[in-house]
Amino acid sequence: FFCGFHPSMRGTLTIEGDATGEIPTSPPFDQPLRIPKVLTGNNVTIPMRMGKVRVMASGPRTRMWTYAGSFPGPTIKRPTGRATKVTFVHQLPRKAGSMSVHNHGGHQSSRDDGQPTRYLIGKGGRRTYTYPLTDFGAPVPAYFAFYHDHKMDVTARNNWRGLQGMFLVTDPRERRLRLPTGKFDVPLHFSDRSFTRKNQLTNPFPSPGRGMHHWMNGPKAPPNDATVGSRILVNGQYAPYLRVKPGLYRLRLLNASLFSAYDFALSNGSPFVQVGTGNGLLPKSVVRQDLLLGPAQRADVIVDFRRQRGENVLLRTIPRSDDTTGTGSRSATLMQFRVRGSTDQTARIPARLTKIENIKAPRKVAKTWTFGLSETGRGSFWSINGKMFDPGRVDHKVRMNSVERWRLRNVSDMTHYVHLHEERWQTLSRNGDKPPPWEKGYEDTWRLDPGETVDVFARFTDYPGLFMVHCHMLNHEDHGMMAQFKVLPTRSP
Ligand code: C2O
Ligand code: CU
Repeated sequence: FFCGFHPSMRGTLTIEGDATGEIPTSPPFDQPLRIPKVLTGNNVTIPMRMGKVRVMASGPRTRMWTYAGSFPGPTIKRPTGRATKVTFVHQLPRKAGSMSVHNHGGHQSSRDDGQPTRYLIGKGGRRTYTYPLTDFGAPVPAYFAFYHDHKMDVTARNNWRGLQGMFLVTDPRERRLRLPTGKFDVPLHFSDRSFTRKNQLTNPFPSPGRGMHHWMNGPKAPPNDATVGSRILVNGQYAPYLRVKPGLYRLRLLNASLFSAYDFALSNGSPFVQVGTGNGLLPKSVVRQDLLLGPAQRADVIVDFRRQRGENVLLRTIPRSDDTTGTGSRSATLMQFRVRGSTDQTARIPARLTKIENIKAPRKVAKTWTFGLSETGRGSFWSINGKMFDPGRVDHKVRMNSVERWRLRNVSDMTHYVHLHEERWQTLSRNGDKPPPWEKGYEDTWRLDPGETVDVFARFTDYPGLFMVHCHMLNHEDHGMMAQFKVLPTRSP
Protein backbone atom coordinates (compact mmCIF):
# COMPACT_ATOMS: atom_id res chain seq x y z
CA PHE A 1 0.00 0.00 0.00
CA PHE A 2 1.08 3.56 -0.41
CA CYS A 3 2.34 5.36 2.59
CA GLY A 4 1.85 9.06 1.96
CA PHE A 5 5.04 10.35 3.41
CA HIS A 6 5.99 13.75 2.24
CA PRO A 7 9.46 14.82 1.20
CA SER A 8 10.16 16.90 4.27
CA MET A 9 10.38 13.65 6.19
CA ARG A 10 13.43 12.83 4.14
CA GLY A 11 14.72 16.24 3.30
CA THR A 12 15.48 17.57 6.73
CA LEU A 13 18.31 16.00 8.56
CA THR A 14 18.73 17.30 12.01
CA ILE A 15 21.53 16.42 14.28
CA GLU A 16 20.13 15.35 17.60
CA GLY A 17 21.45 18.25 19.67
CA ASP A 18 23.10 17.99 23.02
CA ALA A 19 20.89 19.39 25.72
CA THR A 20 23.44 22.17 26.05
CA GLY A 21 23.14 22.87 22.34
CA GLU A 22 26.90 23.07 22.01
CA ILE A 23 29.34 21.10 19.95
CA PRO A 24 32.88 21.94 21.03
CA THR A 25 34.98 22.86 18.03
CA SER A 26 38.41 21.88 19.25
CA PRO A 27 38.15 18.80 21.40
CA PRO A 28 40.47 18.50 24.38
CA PHE A 29 41.84 14.97 23.73
CA ASP A 30 42.15 14.48 27.46
CA GLN A 31 41.48 10.77 27.82
CA PRO A 32 43.57 7.85 26.59
CA LEU A 33 41.84 5.55 24.08
CA ARG A 34 40.45 2.34 25.56
CA ILE A 35 40.85 -0.91 23.70
CA PRO A 36 37.83 -3.08 24.46
CA LYS A 37 38.54 -6.22 26.45
CA VAL A 38 39.30 -9.22 24.21
CA LEU A 39 37.58 -12.62 24.61
CA THR A 40 39.44 -15.52 23.01
CA GLY A 41 37.71 -18.64 24.41
CA ASN A 42 35.81 -21.15 22.29
CA ASN A 43 32.86 -20.82 24.63
CA VAL A 44 32.20 -17.38 26.04
CA THR A 45 29.34 -15.79 27.91
CA ILE A 46 28.32 -12.17 27.47
CA PRO A 47 25.70 -10.74 29.83
CA MET A 48 23.54 -7.98 28.36
CA ARG A 49 23.22 -5.57 31.25
CA MET A 50 23.13 -1.97 32.41
CA GLY A 51 26.59 -0.47 32.50
CA LYS A 52 28.16 2.85 33.42
CA VAL A 53 30.51 3.87 30.68
CA ARG A 54 33.23 6.52 30.87
CA VAL A 55 32.32 8.32 27.63
CA MET A 56 33.30 11.85 28.60
CA ALA A 57 36.66 12.45 30.22
CA SER A 58 35.04 14.21 33.16
CA GLY A 59 31.67 14.38 34.90
CA PRO A 60 29.30 11.47 35.42
CA ARG A 61 29.65 8.22 33.52
CA THR A 62 26.95 7.35 30.96
CA ARG A 63 24.34 4.70 31.75
CA MET A 64 23.98 2.37 28.77
CA TRP A 65 22.62 -1.02 27.74
CA THR A 66 25.81 -2.97 27.28
CA TYR A 67 27.36 -6.24 26.33
CA ALA A 68 29.30 -7.23 29.47
CA GLY A 69 29.34 -3.73 30.98
CA SER A 70 31.34 -1.88 28.35
CA PHE A 71 30.63 0.14 25.21
CA PRO A 72 31.52 -1.18 22.74
CA GLY A 73 31.22 -4.65 24.24
CA PRO A 74 34.17 -7.02 24.48
CA THR A 75 35.92 -7.87 21.21
CA ILE A 76 35.56 -11.53 20.34
CA LYS A 77 38.83 -12.66 18.75
CA ARG A 78 39.10 -16.14 17.29
CA PRO A 79 41.26 -18.05 14.82
CA THR A 80 39.41 -18.99 11.64
CA GLY A 81 38.05 -22.53 11.39
CA ARG A 82 37.56 -22.86 15.16
CA ALA A 83 33.92 -23.18 16.17
CA THR A 84 32.94 -20.48 18.64
CA LYS A 85 29.98 -20.48 20.98
CA VAL A 86 28.80 -17.21 22.42
CA THR A 87 26.04 -17.20 25.04
CA PHE A 88 24.18 -13.93 25.52
CA VAL A 89 22.30 -13.58 28.81
CA HIS A 90 19.50 -11.01 29.05
CA GLN A 91 19.86 -9.06 32.30
CA LEU A 92 18.50 -5.76 31.02
CA PRO A 93 15.34 -4.16 32.42
CA ARG A 94 12.08 -5.67 31.24
CA LYS A 95 11.19 -2.55 29.23
CA ALA A 96 14.12 -3.31 26.92
CA GLY A 97 12.02 -6.15 25.51
CA SER A 98 13.48 -9.24 23.93
CA MET A 99 16.79 -9.15 22.10
CA SER A 100 18.46 -10.72 19.09
CA VAL A 101 22.20 -10.62 18.38
CA HIS A 102 23.49 -10.63 14.81
CA ASN A 103 27.11 -11.28 13.91
CA HIS A 104 27.33 -8.92 10.94
CA GLY A 105 29.68 -10.29 8.28
CA GLY A 106 29.58 -13.86 9.59
CA HIS A 107 28.49 -17.03 7.81
CA GLN A 108 26.29 -18.89 10.29
CA SER A 109 23.08 -20.89 10.34
CA SER A 110 19.71 -19.22 10.16
CA ARG A 111 19.10 -19.99 13.87
CA ASP A 112 22.44 -18.47 14.80
CA ASP A 113 22.06 -15.41 12.60
CA GLY A 114 20.23 -13.16 15.07
CA GLN A 115 16.96 -12.80 13.25
CA PRO A 116 14.67 -9.82 13.87
CA THR A 117 11.63 -11.83 15.00
CA ARG A 118 12.80 -15.40 15.55
CA TYR A 119 14.93 -17.12 18.21
CA LEU A 120 14.74 -14.07 20.46
CA ILE A 121 16.22 -13.76 23.95
CA GLY A 122 13.60 -12.75 26.51
CA LYS A 123 14.23 -10.97 29.81
CA GLY A 124 16.05 -13.38 32.14
CA GLY A 125 16.73 -15.77 29.26
CA ARG A 126 19.86 -16.74 27.40
CA ARG A 127 20.77 -18.01 23.98
CA THR A 128 23.91 -19.64 22.64
CA TYR A 129 24.92 -18.74 19.12
CA THR A 130 27.34 -21.03 17.28
CA TYR A 131 29.78 -19.50 14.81
CA PRO A 132 31.67 -22.31 13.00
CA LEU A 133 34.00 -19.84 11.17
CA THR A 134 34.05 -22.20 8.20
CA ASP A 135 32.50 -22.09 4.76
CA PHE A 136 31.92 -25.20 2.70
CA GLY A 137 34.20 -27.13 5.10
CA ALA A 138 37.14 -24.69 4.85
CA PRO A 139 38.23 -21.96 7.27
CA VAL A 140 36.84 -18.57 6.21
CA PRO A 141 39.24 -15.77 5.24
CA ALA A 142 40.13 -13.71 8.31
CA TYR A 143 37.62 -10.89 8.74
CA PHE A 144 36.53 -8.00 10.93
CA ALA A 145 32.89 -8.23 11.94
CA PHE A 146 30.43 -6.36 14.07
CA TYR A 147 27.96 -7.97 16.48
CA HIS A 148 24.93 -5.92 17.37
CA ASP A 149 21.28 -6.06 18.32
CA HIS A 150 18.84 -6.81 15.49
CA LYS A 151 15.39 -6.88 17.10
CA MET A 152 12.64 -5.80 14.69
CA ASP A 153 11.44 -2.18 15.01
CA VAL A 154 13.86 -1.28 17.81
CA THR A 155 17.26 -2.02 16.28
CA ALA A 156 18.11 1.69 16.10
CA ARG A 157 17.12 2.28 19.73
CA ASN A 158 18.97 -0.81 21.00
CA ASN A 159 22.14 0.12 19.13
CA TRP A 160 21.90 3.73 20.32
CA ARG A 161 21.64 2.49 23.90
CA GLY A 162 24.89 0.56 23.41
CA LEU A 163 24.36 -3.02 22.21
CA GLN A 164 27.34 -3.22 19.84
CA GLY A 165 30.71 -5.00 19.80
CA MET A 166 33.50 -6.13 17.49
CA PHE A 167 34.33 -9.66 16.28
CA LEU A 168 37.76 -10.33 14.84
CA VAL A 169 38.57 -13.57 13.02
CA THR A 170 42.29 -14.13 12.58
CA ASP A 171 44.26 -16.42 10.28
CA PRO A 172 47.80 -17.58 11.14
CA ARG A 173 48.46 -17.92 7.41
CA GLU A 174 48.34 -14.14 7.18
CA ARG A 175 51.63 -13.92 9.12
CA ARG A 176 53.76 -14.22 6.02
CA LEU A 177 52.42 -10.83 4.92
CA ARG A 178 54.08 -9.19 7.95
CA LEU A 179 51.25 -6.77 8.52
CA PRO A 180 51.46 -4.85 11.81
CA THR A 181 50.39 -7.02 14.78
CA GLY A 182 49.98 -6.87 18.54
CA LYS A 183 49.87 -3.29 19.88
CA PHE A 184 50.23 -2.12 16.27
CA ASP A 185 46.82 -3.59 15.35
CA VAL A 186 44.07 -1.39 16.75
CA PRO A 187 40.30 -1.90 16.41
CA LEU A 188 38.41 1.41 16.21
CA HIS A 189 34.65 1.57 16.66
CA PHE A 190 33.07 4.89 15.59
CA SER A 191 29.56 5.98 16.46
CA ASP A 192 27.70 9.17 17.29
CA ARG A 193 25.49 9.95 20.26
CA SER A 194 23.99 13.02 21.93
CA PHE A 195 24.08 13.74 25.63
CA THR A 196 22.28 15.59 28.39
CA ARG A 197 24.12 18.01 30.67
CA LYS A 198 24.72 15.09 33.01
CA ASN A 199 26.43 13.06 30.30
CA GLN A 200 23.43 10.79 29.78
CA LEU A 201 22.20 9.65 26.36
CA THR A 202 19.33 11.64 24.93
CA ASN A 203 16.32 9.60 23.83
CA PRO A 204 15.54 10.23 20.17
CA PHE A 205 13.09 7.32 20.10
CA PRO A 206 9.52 8.01 21.09
CA SER A 207 8.19 5.38 23.44
CA PRO A 208 8.20 2.49 22.87
CA GLY A 209 10.76 3.20 20.14
CA ARG A 210 8.83 1.56 17.37
CA GLY A 211 9.49 1.86 13.67
CA MET A 212 7.57 3.63 10.96
CA HIS A 213 5.41 0.75 9.91
CA HIS A 214 4.09 0.39 13.43
CA TRP A 215 3.30 4.05 13.50
CA MET A 216 1.32 3.82 10.29
CA ASN A 217 -0.62 0.95 11.78
CA GLY A 218 -1.81 2.93 14.75
CA PRO A 219 0.23 4.79 17.37
CA LYS A 220 0.82 8.47 17.84
CA ALA A 221 4.04 10.34 17.32
CA PRO A 222 6.11 9.83 14.16
CA PRO A 223 9.29 7.94 14.91
CA ASN A 224 12.66 9.44 14.19
CA ASP A 225 13.69 8.94 10.58
CA ALA A 226 17.36 9.89 10.97
CA THR A 227 19.25 9.50 14.20
CA VAL A 228 22.48 11.47 14.13
CA GLY A 229 24.29 12.21 17.37
CA SER A 230 26.11 15.47 18.04
CA ARG A 231 29.37 13.85 19.16
CA ILE A 232 31.31 11.17 17.35
CA LEU A 233 32.80 8.63 19.77
CA VAL A 234 35.80 6.37 19.25
CA ASN A 235 35.61 3.06 21.13
CA GLY A 236 32.81 4.67 23.11
CA GLN A 237 34.86 7.71 24.18
CA TYR A 238 34.57 11.31 23.21
CA ALA A 239 37.78 12.73 21.69
CA PRO A 240 40.39 10.29 23.01
CA TYR A 241 44.09 10.20 22.22
CA LEU A 242 46.33 7.22 21.52
CA ARG A 243 50.08 7.15 22.09
CA VAL A 244 51.70 5.42 19.14
CA LYS A 245 55.28 4.61 18.10
CA PRO A 246 56.76 5.98 14.88
CA GLY A 247 55.84 2.77 13.02
CA LEU A 248 53.18 1.18 10.86
CA TYR A 249 49.74 0.70 12.38
CA ARG A 250 46.94 -1.54 11.23
CA LEU A 251 43.67 0.19 12.06
CA ARG A 252 40.40 -1.71 11.83
CA LEU A 253 37.83 0.96 11.15
CA LEU A 254 34.19 0.19 11.91
CA ASN A 255 31.42 2.71 11.31
CA ALA A 256 28.93 1.56 13.93
CA SER A 257 26.73 4.65 13.68
CA LEU A 258 22.98 4.33 13.24
CA PHE A 259 22.74 6.58 10.23
CA SER A 260 25.84 8.69 9.53
CA ALA A 261 28.58 8.11 7.03
CA TYR A 262 32.09 9.26 7.97
CA ASP A 263 34.72 10.25 5.46
CA PHE A 264 37.98 9.54 7.28
CA ALA A 265 41.14 11.56 6.67
CA LEU A 266 44.39 12.32 8.53
CA SER A 267 45.42 15.87 9.42
CA ASN A 268 49.00 15.45 8.15
CA GLY A 269 47.84 14.57 4.64
CA SER A 270 49.07 10.97 4.92
CA PRO A 271 46.91 8.44 3.11
CA PHE A 272 45.39 5.22 4.40
CA VAL A 273 46.60 2.11 2.66
CA GLN A 274 43.54 -0.09 2.57
CA VAL A 275 44.37 -3.79 2.83
CA GLY A 276 40.92 -5.20 3.51
CA THR A 277 37.19 -4.81 3.82
CA GLY A 278 35.18 -6.15 6.73
CA ASN A 279 35.11 -9.55 5.03
CA GLY A 280 38.80 -10.17 4.41
CA LEU A 281 41.89 -8.92 2.63
CA LEU A 282 41.72 -7.21 -0.74
CA PRO A 283 43.67 -8.75 -3.63
CA LYS A 284 45.91 -5.65 -3.74
CA SER A 285 46.40 -2.81 -1.32
CA VAL A 286 44.82 0.51 -2.30
CA VAL A 287 46.11 3.98 -1.38
CA ARG A 288 43.26 6.22 -0.27
CA GLN A 289 43.54 9.86 0.65
CA ASP A 290 40.16 9.71 2.33
CA LEU A 291 37.93 6.79 3.03
CA LEU A 292 34.15 6.92 3.20
CA LEU A 293 32.37 4.37 5.36
CA GLY A 294 28.63 4.21 5.84
CA PRO A 295 26.79 2.45 8.66
CA ALA A 296 28.18 -1.07 9.31
CA GLN A 297 30.93 -0.72 6.73
CA ARG A 298 34.45 -1.62 7.81
CA ALA A 299 37.90 -1.02 6.40
CA ASP A 300 41.21 -2.60 7.31
CA VAL A 301 43.90 0.04 6.75
CA ILE A 302 47.60 0.66 7.39
CA VAL A 303 48.76 4.08 8.55
CA ASP A 304 52.42 5.05 8.44
CA PHE A 305 53.65 7.12 11.41
CA ARG A 306 57.35 6.44 10.73
CA ARG A 307 58.15 10.03 9.83
CA GLN A 308 55.86 11.65 12.38
CA ARG A 309 57.93 11.21 15.52
CA GLY A 310 57.13 13.88 18.10
CA GLU A 311 54.04 15.03 16.21
CA ASN A 312 50.33 14.83 16.93
CA VAL A 313 48.23 13.54 14.05
CA LEU A 314 44.46 14.00 14.05
CA LEU A 315 41.91 11.62 12.61
CA ARG A 316 38.99 13.49 11.11
CA THR A 317 35.84 13.09 9.16
CA ILE A 318 35.75 15.61 6.34
CA PRO A 319 32.85 17.18 4.43
CA ARG A 320 32.01 15.65 1.08
CA SER A 321 30.22 17.60 -1.56
CA ASP A 322 28.99 14.47 -3.35
CA ASP A 323 27.49 12.80 -0.32
CA THR A 324 23.74 12.60 -0.61
CA THR A 325 22.95 11.16 2.79
CA GLY A 326 23.45 14.62 4.15
CA THR A 327 25.20 13.00 7.08
CA GLY A 328 28.63 12.13 5.74
CA SER A 329 29.30 15.79 5.24
CA ARG A 330 30.26 16.68 8.74
CA SER A 331 33.51 18.16 9.65
CA ALA A 332 34.70 16.77 12.97
CA THR A 333 37.91 15.76 14.66
CA LEU A 334 37.61 12.27 16.08
CA MET A 335 40.84 11.44 17.86
CA GLN A 336 44.51 12.27 18.22
CA PHE A 337 47.56 10.07 17.66
CA ARG A 338 50.60 11.15 19.69
CA VAL A 339 53.64 9.77 17.93
CA ARG A 340 56.37 9.23 20.54
CA GLY A 341 59.35 7.00 21.34
CA SER A 342 60.88 4.53 18.92
CA THR A 343 60.34 1.01 17.64
CA ASP A 344 62.26 -1.79 15.94
CA GLN A 345 59.10 -3.09 14.28
CA THR A 346 59.62 -5.08 11.06
CA ALA A 347 56.13 -4.83 9.58
CA ARG A 348 55.59 -3.77 5.99
CA ILE A 349 52.87 -2.84 3.53
CA PRO A 350 52.61 -5.58 0.90
CA ALA A 351 51.28 -4.66 -2.53
CA ARG A 352 49.73 -8.06 -3.16
CA LEU A 353 47.66 -9.53 -0.39
CA THR A 354 45.44 -12.45 -1.29
CA LYS A 355 43.55 -14.29 -3.99
CA ILE A 356 39.82 -13.95 -4.16
CA GLU A 357 37.94 -17.19 -4.75
CA ASN A 358 37.50 -17.70 -8.45
CA ILE A 359 33.76 -18.31 -8.85
CA LYS A 360 32.24 -17.69 -12.23
CA ALA A 361 29.69 -14.91 -12.05
CA PRO A 362 26.35 -15.86 -13.64
CA ARG A 363 25.26 -13.81 -16.67
CA LYS A 364 21.68 -13.74 -15.60
CA VAL A 365 20.42 -11.60 -12.73
CA ALA A 366 18.48 -13.95 -10.44
CA LYS A 367 17.00 -11.23 -8.25
CA THR A 368 16.72 -7.45 -8.31
CA TRP A 369 16.28 -5.62 -5.01
CA THR A 370 14.96 -2.09 -5.53
CA PHE A 371 15.34 0.38 -2.69
CA GLY A 372 12.92 3.30 -2.30
CA LEU A 373 9.57 4.15 -3.79
CA SER A 374 8.94 1.89 -6.74
CA GLU A 375 8.17 3.27 -10.20
CA THR A 376 4.56 2.29 -9.68
CA GLY A 377 4.48 4.42 -6.55
CA ARG A 378 3.85 1.42 -4.36
CA GLY A 379 5.39 1.08 -0.93
CA SER A 380 6.93 3.87 1.10
CA PHE A 381 10.19 5.73 0.99
CA TRP A 382 11.57 2.87 3.05
CA SER A 383 10.49 -0.12 1.04
CA ILE A 384 12.24 -2.79 -1.00
CA ASN A 385 10.53 -3.80 -4.25
CA GLY A 386 7.56 -1.73 -3.16
CA LYS A 387 7.04 -3.62 0.08
CA MET A 388 7.77 -3.00 3.71
CA PHE A 389 9.24 -5.76 5.83
CA ASP A 390 6.95 -8.63 6.73
CA PRO A 391 8.55 -11.40 8.76
CA GLY A 392 5.91 -13.81 7.46
CA ARG A 393 6.79 -13.24 3.79
CA VAL A 394 9.65 -14.83 1.86
CA ASP A 395 10.85 -12.43 -0.83
CA HIS A 396 13.19 -14.71 -2.70
CA LYS A 397 14.16 -18.38 -2.70
CA VAL A 398 17.52 -19.77 -3.62
CA ARG A 399 18.76 -23.35 -3.77
CA MET A 400 21.72 -24.21 -1.54
CA ASN A 401 25.08 -24.52 -3.34
CA SER A 402 23.91 -22.44 -6.26
CA VAL A 403 25.66 -19.24 -7.31
CA GLU A 404 23.39 -16.25 -7.87
CA ARG A 405 23.84 -12.79 -9.24
CA TRP A 406 21.74 -10.13 -7.56
CA ARG A 407 21.14 -6.55 -8.60
CA LEU A 408 20.84 -3.79 -6.00
CA ARG A 409 19.15 -0.62 -7.26
CA ASN A 410 18.48 2.66 -5.54
CA VAL A 411 15.48 4.42 -7.09
CA SER A 412 15.12 6.93 -4.26
CA ASP A 413 16.64 10.38 -3.93
CA MET A 414 18.86 9.57 -0.98
CA THR A 415 21.77 7.27 -0.31
CA HIS A 416 21.17 3.85 1.21
CA TYR A 417 23.72 1.38 2.58
CA VAL A 418 22.52 -2.07 1.60
CA HIS A 419 23.50 -5.10 3.66
CA LEU A 420 23.12 -8.75 2.67
CA HIS A 421 23.38 -11.34 5.39
CA GLU A 422 25.06 -14.68 5.34
CA GLU A 423 27.46 -14.87 2.39
CA ARG A 424 30.75 -13.32 1.34
CA TRP A 425 29.74 -11.41 -1.74
CA GLN A 426 31.85 -10.32 -4.67
CA THR A 427 31.03 -7.08 -6.45
CA LEU A 428 30.68 -7.58 -10.18
CA SER A 429 29.85 -4.08 -11.32
CA ARG A 430 28.88 -0.64 -10.15
CA ASN A 431 26.61 1.22 -12.60
CA GLY A 432 27.71 -1.16 -15.34
CA ASP A 433 31.42 -0.45 -14.83
CA LYS A 434 34.11 -2.34 -12.97
CA PRO A 435 33.90 -1.70 -9.24
CA PRO A 436 36.54 0.58 -7.67
CA PRO A 437 39.66 -1.25 -6.38
CA TRP A 438 38.45 -1.21 -2.77
CA GLU A 439 35.35 -3.16 -3.84
CA LYS A 440 37.37 -5.97 -5.40
CA GLY A 441 37.42 -8.07 -2.24
CA TYR A 442 34.55 -9.63 -0.37
CA GLU A 443 31.79 -7.35 0.78
CA ASP A 444 28.53 -7.41 2.71
CA THR A 445 27.44 -3.73 2.72
CA TRP A 446 27.40 -1.38 -0.28
CA ARG A 447 26.88 2.31 -0.63
CA LEU A 448 24.14 3.05 -3.15
CA ASP A 449 23.75 6.66 -4.12
CA PRO A 450 20.50 7.78 -5.81
CA GLY A 451 20.14 6.07 -9.17
CA GLU A 452 22.98 3.62 -8.59
CA THR A 453 22.94 -0.07 -9.50
CA VAL A 454 25.40 -2.59 -8.07
CA ASP A 455 25.60 -6.23 -9.22
CA VAL A 456 26.93 -8.78 -6.74
CA PHE A 457 27.24 -12.54 -6.67
CA ALA A 458 27.85 -15.31 -4.14
CA ARG A 459 27.57 -19.00 -3.59
CA PHE A 460 24.99 -20.05 -1.00
CA THR A 461 26.61 -22.70 1.14
CA ASP A 462 26.02 -24.76 4.26
CA TYR A 463 22.83 -23.37 5.75
CA PRO A 464 19.25 -23.58 4.58
CA GLY A 465 16.79 -21.12 6.12
CA LEU A 466 15.90 -17.45 6.31
CA PHE A 467 18.33 -14.54 6.00
CA MET A 468 17.93 -10.80 5.75
CA VAL A 469 18.42 -8.06 3.14
CA HIS A 470 18.16 -4.49 4.44
CA CYS A 471 19.33 -0.93 4.54
CA HIS A 472 21.80 -0.52 7.40
CA MET A 473 20.77 3.02 8.17
CA LEU A 474 18.97 1.69 11.21
CA ASN A 475 16.06 4.12 11.07
CA HIS A 476 15.36 2.91 7.53
CA GLU A 477 15.62 -0.72 8.62
CA ASP A 478 13.21 -0.12 11.51
CA HIS A 479 10.83 1.68 9.14
CA GLY A 480 10.57 -1.51 7.11
CA MET A 481 13.39 -1.28 4.54
CA MET A 482 14.12 -4.96 5.01
CA ALA A 483 13.30 -8.18 3.18
CA GLN A 484 14.26 -11.82 3.52
CA PHE A 485 15.45 -14.65 1.33
CA LYS A 486 15.19 -18.34 1.97
CA VAL A 487 17.90 -20.83 1.18
CA LEU A 488 16.31 -24.17 0.27
CA PRO A 489 18.14 -27.41 1.01
CA THR A 490 19.88 -29.09 -1.94
CA ARG A 491 17.78 -31.65 -3.76
CA SER A 492 18.58 -35.15 -2.63
CA PRO A 493 20.30 -37.03 -5.48
CU1 C2O B 1 24.53 -5.36 10.76
CU2 C2O B 1 21.19 -7.20 9.40
O1 C2O B 1 22.80 -6.22 10.17
CU1 CU C 1 18.48 3.53 3.80
